[in-house]
Amino acid sequence: VILDQLKVPIVLAPLGGGPSTPELAAAVTSAGGLGFLAAAYLRASEVASRIEATRALTSGPLGVNVFVPGSGPARPEGYGPYVERFRAWAQANDAEVGEPRYDDDDWDAKIELLVTTEVEVVSFTFGCPSADVVAELKRSGSEVWVTVTSPREAAEAADSGADVLVVQGAEAGGHRGSFIDRPELPVYGVLALIDLVRAAVSLPLVASGGIATAEALAAVLAAGAGAAQIGTAFMLAPEAGTSEPHREAIASTEETVLTRAFTGRLARGIRNEFIEEHGTGAPIAYPELHHLTAPMRRRAREEGDPSRINLWAGETHQLARQRPAAETVRALSRPG
Ligand SMILES: Cc1cc2nc3c(=O)[nH]c(=O)nc-3n(C[C@H](O)[C@H](O)[C@H](O)COP(=O)(O)O)c2cc1C
Repeated sequence: VILDQLKVPIVLAPLGGGPSTPELAAAVTSAGGLGFLAAAYLRASEVASRIEATRALTSGPLGVNVFVPGSGPARPEGYGPYVERFRAWAQANDAEVGEPRYDDDDWDAKIELLVTTEVEVVSFTFGCPSADVVAELKRSGSEVWVTVTSPREAAEAADSGADVLVVQGAEAGGHRGSFIDRPELPVYGVLALIDLVRAAVSLPLVASGGIATAEALAAVLAAGAGAAQIGTAFMLAPEAGTSEPHREAIASTEETVLTRAFTGRLARGIRNEFIEEHGTGAPIAYPELHHLTAPMRRRAREEGDPSRINLWAGETHQLARQRPAAETVRALSRPG
């Protein structure tokens, strides 16, 4: 597996929705880690250009991450009241409103692209692709990684033929990678999850969630992971596409919380006014609520207003440093 060939056991987290760039992926790969591109929220054709752009910047290995679509639209009865509340609030507070709708994020075209394009690793989150898709990607020369958040998901991913499991702990920034979002979703800390998954399956593991120092990296390696997948610690790098207000929030000491208010899927972000106002009782309805709030968030990013942005970040965000990604790779790969 690719993990055995990396000079440093550091994987760049995919970071969909803005922070992911070809420059960031290339910088981490060139520094001896594994760079990743997020395919989420992009058309397959845009993903293709980003792969090409990354290849032009580095000759090392590259991973591409895809969201696995849910089983179909959420029930409108379930999220209707939230949409009504949001619309009323938006009207009173000068916020734009999007149309809640279901889509599969261009799934078929992305799989087709990744089967026909040379990419060393294809990783999945929000679910486990079918054994057929896994086999097709492997035949085409890619390693297949699946993000898991519980020992049960680990067993399912192993059955589907995955090569490596990304074990995502509670500490992680961004969406929970859980196969199915549900009320009272169990959320394991990263060390507990590594132990439980290691007991359940024999695949190589990549630990993810709150790893921002050389000491924390050493800890997950000691626990049995082959590498760490690190997100927030790279989000202040000049190569990242992180928005200005998001950068300022990451550098602050504000707490993170788990919320469905922005997208209808559980995610960890830095607490702000929008979460305070809409977090309680936000329904499970992804990607419907993602589309509902997207125009509001886009404008807030443009205007530099952090109170209405989904400030995804891991629990240790205040330890992120503003420095080139290669320097973060170096700082994390040697203790002290
Ligand atoms: C802004 C942001 C965007 C993310 N986007 C994705 C994504 O597109 N795909 C994915 O598998 N994980 C995504 N994640 C989760 C990461 O893969 C990873 O689990 C997380 O960043 C680890 O926690 P850390 O941020 O504390 O390092 C995202 C996380 C953040 C903070």
